[in-house]
Amino acid sequence: MKEQSPVSRSGRFESGPGADVAKFTESISFDWRLWEYDIFGSIAHATMLQKIGVLTLAELTEIKNGLQQIGGEIAEGKFKWKPELEDVHMNIEAELTKRVPAGAKLHTGRSRNDQVALDIRLWLRDQIIELMRELRGLQKALVELGEKNSDVIIPGYTHLQRAQPVYFAHHLLAYAEMFERDYARLNDCFTRVNVCPLGSGAIAGSTLPLDREFVAELLQFVDDEGEPRLTQNSMDGVSDRDFAIEFCSAGALVAVHLSRLAEDIILWATTEFNFIKIADAYTTGSSLMPQKKNPDIAELARGKTGRVVGNLVSLLMLLKGLPMTYNRDLQEDKERLFDTADTVRSTVRLTAAMLQNTTINKESCAAAASDPALLATDLADYLVKKEMPFRQAHHVVGSVVAFAEKAGRPLNQLTVAELHSLDPNFSEDVLHVFDLKRAMGKRNSTGAPGTKEVARQLSLWKKKFLSEDLGTA
Ligand code: ARG
Repeated sequence: MKEQSPVSRSGRFESGPGADVAKFTESISFDWRLWEYDIFGSIAHATMLQKIGVLTLAELTEIKNGLQQIGGEIAEGKFKWKPELEDVHMNIEAELTKRVPAGAKLHTGRSRNDQVALDIRLWLRDQIIELMRELRGLQKALVELGEKNSDVIIPGYTHLQRAQPVYFAHHLLAYAEMFERDYARLNDCFTRVNVCPLGSGAIAGSTLPLDREFVAELLQFVDDEGEPRLTQNSMDGVSDRDFAIEFCSAGALVAVHLSRLAEDIILWATTEFNFIKIADAYTTGSSLMPQKKNPDIAELARGKTGRVVGNLVSLLMLLKGLPMTYNRDLQEDKERLFDTADTVRSTVRLTAAMLQNTTINKESCAAAASDPALLATDLADYLVKKEMPFRQAHHVVGSVVAFAEKAGRPLNQLTVAELHSLDPNFSEDVLHVFDLKRAMGKRNSTGAPGTKEVARQLSLWKKKFLSEDLGTA
């Protein structure tokens, strides 16, 4: 007796695939995680088949109960996946057919080509919603840390050289902005994921009067008005993976943002900066050097970005040059897509948790921010207010900085007389320029790191979170 052959090979084939071929072609080892969506999609498809008269009500009930039973067993870890049945779709369908005769009718008007496209879309919708929720969590952690330390000022850097003072909160809110754009990108991506491909069949739809709108509604592929959203070309419907690429692209950008944040955290946690302290539970020690406390979460966040970007490139290459329509190459989409979702989501969660367990070393920040050179631009602005053209003011302050350097004194310890000798526009009131609090009070245009503006931004974020939590957003 021949081994029971997989569904797709019955009839046409005399023998099953060799062991090495089966191992090479299977996808059950990774696509099993689509099971819940596969069952959800199959129940909707069967419901439609009953509506158009392909299934009797009794058959539909049989199929539904059978699928639900299988789902229960999978959830409990009791279901035995068979690699020889290739993938999640065949495993579930074959088991259903073994249990209920009507199972043999389930695949009417459907192909694994539109089925797998459907399953990925259903799975990805949930992943996007979860990732968006997690991004909000991360933004909240950033805002909370800023809020708790709203009086802390640090040097802002360009070229990693001290530039101008900013509130620590302002620096953190820069990341909140980045993640807000990511949030919007994911939301936008969702609209293109949320389209139902079922009914496309293998490539050319079906001769049966499938009710695609009905299936789409059952699976909640609807727009804001509740209208069903369907793919409009059967060939595109089975071979389109743009939505997966879009997700991996949005995910790659999230990862890049996480990596930049991670790098700032790593720098701030060095003895040299000493701006922050990450709680022990979120750091690791060295097996050799007893004094070490390493910011491994941040380092891994930075490191994992490489593979997330790689996943995007893999998918782009997968589609490049792929002829119409479904080709088995497309099976390679899933591991890359899964990995992006898993990696980005866990990194977002862990980064948020790390921030919630990070404290700011106010003294070190204050010491760094007290560097009067950070206010050299303010000194130029002082001259501008005395009606000097900025280019000239820039030049004058350059000579002031050179003078201070030669004198071996910080900028704010030059006398008014010395300053006056460098440019007659300097008078008594120049000393106010180096009052940091006052300087921070003067940066108040939208998006500036001034005292009022940062407080306003913090409160805008909190209001946004609150209205979302209350469902009034
Ligand atoms: N496991 C396959 C995939 O992931 C399902 C579709 C297979 N279709 C086919 N015609 N062989 O793409």
